[in-house]
Amino acid sequence: MAFDLIIVGGGRMGGALAKGLVKANWCAPSALAIIETSQQTREALALELPGVTVLASLELEHVDTERTGAVLAVKPDQAEGTARLIGAVGVRRLLSVVAGLSTKRLEAVLPSGAAVIRSMPNTPVLVGKGVSAISGGDFATKDDLDWASSVLGAVGTVVRLSEKHMDTVTGLSGPMPAYLYMVVEALVEAGVHQGLTREVSRELVIGTFEGSAALLAASGETPEELRSQVTSPGGTTAAGLRMLEARAVRAAFLEAVAAASERSRQLGR
Ligand SMILES: NC(=O)c1ccc[n+]([C@@H]2O[C@H](COP(=O)([O-])OP(=O)(O)OC[C@H]3O[C@@H](n4cnc5c(N)ncnc54)[C@H](OP(=O)(O)O)[C@@H]3O)[C@@H](O)[C@H]2O)c1
Repeated sequence: MAFDLIIVGGGRMGGALAKGLVKANWCAPSALAIIETSQQTREALALELPGVTVLASLELEHVDTERTGAVLAVKPDQAEGTARLIGAVGVRRLLSVVAGLSTKRLEAVLPSGAAVIRSMPNTPVLVGKGVSAISGGDFATKDDLDWASSVLGAVGTVVRLSEKHMDTVTGLSGPMPAYLYMVVEALVEAGVHQGLTREVSRELVIGTFEGSAALLAASGETPEELRSQVTSPGGTTAAGLRMLEARAVRAAFLEAVAAASERSRQLGR
């Protein structure tokens, strides 16, 4: 039986995508298959996604060359070998979520003319609030990009970019949850240092983190405007911000994104 969509690699990213697609009714569960080498992960996915086919390997009979698309969601070191197998069973449209892997390298292991769409999602896809950037390879048409947008749109928002920007995305929104969690961790610790219990400090910090993101999204105001609204001249927030500037926190973020983007470039070589 051929499927509409085959997700190859049912780990964190592939599993989250499958759950988002089922929840969004992107296709009937019976039109979706997940190929996953780990038996334990296969069993967990089969329990969580009734009606979705979860298999250990990809075969010719699973693919209708005209309509079956695949998502490549394995670790970078397994990606090109796995893409080669996907191409060998007749898939002509591939959406990759693999960090740092260029469309050129994927095109080189797929049958000539196959459409490749490279993407960079981030972990909030696990709760349907991811942000993904996509870019198409040499043979990807507008239809292929629309298809990729609709797949990733099931688990968040999608931005289309030229591939030359993908390493920057890989250094910015890809790891950004980790950057922000580090900020949250540090602020919880700061509350503890000032005498709060860890539980109270965590409640204050995480609640403020969620509320601030919601306010930014709902108000339509820029981060600069919202920040200046809580910074009265000579007040407490101004004293705190002055210290952050003195410790070059802004410059540290510029350097962090530059370093992560450079690492993505290195991985892609
Ligand atoms: N997690 C993120 O935040 C994130 C963000 C953006 C992009 N990505 C990208 O998403 C990709 C997957 O990351 P992940 O975090 O989801 O990794 P993961 O949890 O390790 O998932 C990959 C899964 O694929 C399985 N697998 C390996 N080779 C396979 C094959 N040939 N056929 C079928 N299944 C196979 C692995 O099984 P075994 O354990 O048995 O090897 C594993 O369960 C990576 O390339 C990463 O760059 C991840």
